[in-house]
Amino acid sequence: MAAVTVSAGVVFKQGMSSLGPSEFVGKVAKQFAVAAPTVKSQNAAVISVRAAGYDEELVKTAKTIASPGRGILAMDESNATCGLRLASIGLENTEVNRQAYRQLLVGTPGLGEYVSGAILFEETLYQSTTDGSKMVDVLSQGGIIPGIKVDKGLVPLAGSNNESWCQGLDGLASRTAAYYKQGARFAKWRTVISIPNGPSELAVTEAAWGLARYAAISQDNGLVPIVEPEILLDGSHGIDRTLEVAQKVWSKVFFFLAENNVLFEGILLKPSMVTPGAECPERATPEKVAEYTLTLLKRRVPPSVPGIMFLSGGQSEVEATLNLNAMNQSPNPWHVSFSYARALQNSVLKTWKGQPENVEAAQKALLVRAKANSLAQLGKYSAEGEAEEAKKGMFVKGYTY
Ligand code: 13P
Repeated sequence: MAAVTVSAGVVFKQGMSSLGPSEFVGKVAKQFAVAAPTVKSQNAAVISVRAAGYDEELVKTAKTIASPGRGILAMDESNATCGLRLASIGLENTEVNRQAYRQLLVGTPGLGEYVSGAILFEETLYQSTTDGSKMVDVLSQGGIIPGIKVDKGLVPLAGSNNESWCQGLDGLASRTAAYYKQGARFAKWRTVISIPNGPSELAVTEAAWGLARYAAISQDNGLVPIVEPEILLDGSHGIDRTLEVAQKVWSKVFFFLAENNVLFEGILLKPSMVTPGAECPERATPEKVAEYTLTLLKRRVPPSVPGIMFLSGGQSEVEATLNLNAMNQSPNPWHVSFSYARALQNSVLKTWKGQPENVEAAQKALLVRAKANSLAQLGKYSAEGEAEEAKKGMFVKGYTY
């Protein structure tokens, strides 16, 4: 019998691809019903599941990002979201202003001591600073690995309870190959789950399947995928309900990651912390958030995964750091760290205000936050002396990124 390959769980015999589409489908159906089990047992040695092309490099990249005392700066706001950030300090959403802001972030001296990776939006991956250096080169020279947001954003999920799904699989293989050439070594795909809107079985399955396909395609092209099913803070539910939903979501995510032959040693996770809904009157201490979040992770995440890089999700800068610190009070099977956007950038923006003379002070503000989270990664952070501004929550209902 001819050699067979396995693709998404379907067994194909060689030569079938020369058939016309309908004939092909009919033949596959027949093969499936009758011959598939025999094919499997007689040809176990020739079934190939995935090419190992970039495996070594993926593992190395993931380990470098998940190195002690370091985490990720998420600065991959779409141009529209970056515009909202700029508007909050009275700046227009022009390419020049976006360049000025992103240049401030990537050019912060000494940032690489606390930050191992920076997630960029496509515009920034191909953008240069005003003195003509490529932003990716500035990062690499500072010891920071450039990453790229590859999803194409959220749209309504037809047939669901007003939930959404994440677009971007079409053309992803060629896009990730091009991003690798441009210097990116890891990728991010953010999909969301809403607790008050269900979540429906359909939305959870769609989210998990999309993440798994994205992860397989990214690894195939040399990029470490950050797997991010963000469970939104929206809602008045308590922390137990968040844990219940998170367990469901992560079990499906890992099921499909395995089905898609994703190399677990070459991925990073970006979960939401397990907290009560933003409108729940009963708040949780950092110790309780840590207890629930670590319970979730221990129940669902294999120790082969190198790093868990949390999102901040609208928590205040100090709250996000305190929660991370609480999770690192005793050793974990994985590196438990940060991949914050709002919880790293809020003070920076407020200090910068779009004024060139404030750039240095704004970079210092970024270093303060980065260092605080670095200490939290090591379980050694104290909130003593933190500014009032850093304690202000940033939750926005139905936040899009
Ligand atoms: P926040 O930390 O602002 O939630 O953003 C992280 C992120 O990258 C979301 O995808």
